[in-house]
Amino acid sequence: MSDKVYIFDTTLRDGEQSPGATMNMAEKITMARQLEKLGVDIIEAGFPAASQGDFDAVTKIAESVGDIQVAGLCRALISDIDRAYDAVKHARNPRIHTFIATSDIHMKHKFNKEPEQILEMARKAVRHAASLTPNVEFSAEDASRSRWDFLAQVVEAAIEEGATTINIPDTVGYAQPEEFGKLITYLLETVPNSDKAVFSVHCHNDLGLGVANTLAAIKAGARQAEVTLSGIGERAGNAALEEVIMALHTRKDYYDVETSIVTEHLFPSCRRLATTIGQPISPYKAIVGANAFAHESGIHQDGMLKNRQTYEIMTPESIGKKGTSIVIGKHSGRNALGSKLTEMGYHLDDTQIAAVFKAIKTLADKKEEIFDEDVEALVLEEAYRIHD
Ligand code: KIV
Ligand code: ZN
Repeated sequence: MSDKVYIFDTTLRDGEQSPGATMNMAEKITMARQLEKLGVDIIEAGFPAASQGDFDAVTKIAESVGDIQVAGLCRALISDIDRAYDAVKHARNPRIHTFIATSDIHMKHKFNKEPEQILEMARKAVRHAASLTPNVEFSAEDASRSRWDFLAQVVEAAIEEGATTINIPDTVGYAQPEEFGKLITYLLETVPNSDKAVFSVHCHNDLGLGVANTLAAIKAGARQAEVTLSGIGERAGNAALEEVIMALHTRKDYYDVETSIVTEHLFPSCRRLATTIGQPISPYKAIVGANAFAHESGIHQDGMLKNRQTYEIMTPESIGKKGTSIVIGKHSGRNALGSKLTEMGYHLDDTQIAAVFKAIKTLADKKEEIFDEDVEALVLEEAYRIHD
C-alpha cells in the first residue's frame, strides 16, 4: 500500500496573512466546513494569541467541525501555547502548533539569542504543549536557511520532548527543489528517532517554487504538506493545495503516495475562497484558472476532438469543473468551429461553416476574446444569409 501524505491546510492562518484576504467569523466557519468536505486532514484555524478575534474564530471553528484535526499556531512561549490550547481544546482532535526560528539571521536579529538558548526555548515549548495534548507540531521557522547540524539538534530535541509532527518551513521561499529534498533526507537519516514523528514541509512561493519544493520534499520522505487554497498566503503565498494534490494524483506513478482529498471538491473550494475574499482566480492559475482546460489553437482543438488525452493530462471533471472548453479565436480550426456550432445547437452545412469561419477570423483580428454570443451573431449574419 502507498504511504499517506497528510494535508495540513493553512488557508485560514497563513492564507489570511495575504493582503486583502481577511475573513470574518462566519466566512471562516464556512471555509472550514468546505475544507472538511474537501478532505484535508488538519485545518490550521488561526493564531489564537494574535488577537481576541483570532482566538474566537479558532474556538468557534474547533466547536463547529467534526473529526478533522484543528491546529492553533503559537510562538514557543508558555502564554501563547496556553492561549492556543484554550481555543483548540474544543475540537474533537486538537493540535498545538508551536514554532521558533532556527536560522542564524533570525536568532540574531529577531531574538538576539544564542543557538543554545533557542534550543532550550524549543524544548520547553514542546514539553509544555505535550503536557496539554499528545498532538503537538513543532516548526523550525526559516529551516531552509538554518545550519543543518543545528536544525537536526533542535528537531531531535523536539521529538524527545513529545512533538509528533516536525515541520520544516521554507519561510522565505529561498530553497531550491533538489537541495530541499536533500535537507529532508538528511534530517530523516540523521535525527535519532525520526520515525517517531511525521515530517512536514511548509513552502513559500517567493521564487515561484513553493509547489516544486513541497513535491521534492514528499519525494524525499516528508509525509505532511502545509498548503493553502489557490496558494494564498504571506507575500507571494504558499504552495497551492490544488497543485500539490493534482501533481500527486496525476503522477502517482512517480510519487506513489495517497491523500484523503476528494479532488472533485478542489475547484468548488477555490471558487468559494475567491468569492469569500473577493479576489478572483487568475485565468492563468494552474488547475483552477479559467484557461486551465480551455483550448484555443486549431492544432490542439483538432487533437482534443480526436482524443482528449492529446492535450489533457487530467480531466476538468476530476477537479469538479464542467467540461473542457473549446475557445473560438484566431487560432481555431474549422473542425473546432463545426463542433462548437453543433454544441450550440446549429447544424450548418460546409458552405455555411466556411462563411462563419471566415467571418470569425476577421473578427478575431479586431477583438481579443470571441464569446459564444459573437459566434451566434455571425451565424445569423453569415450562415443564414447564404441560403436566403
Ligand atoms: O512560514 C513559516 O515559517 C510559517 C511558520 C509559522 C510555520 O508560517
Ligand atoms: Zn508560512
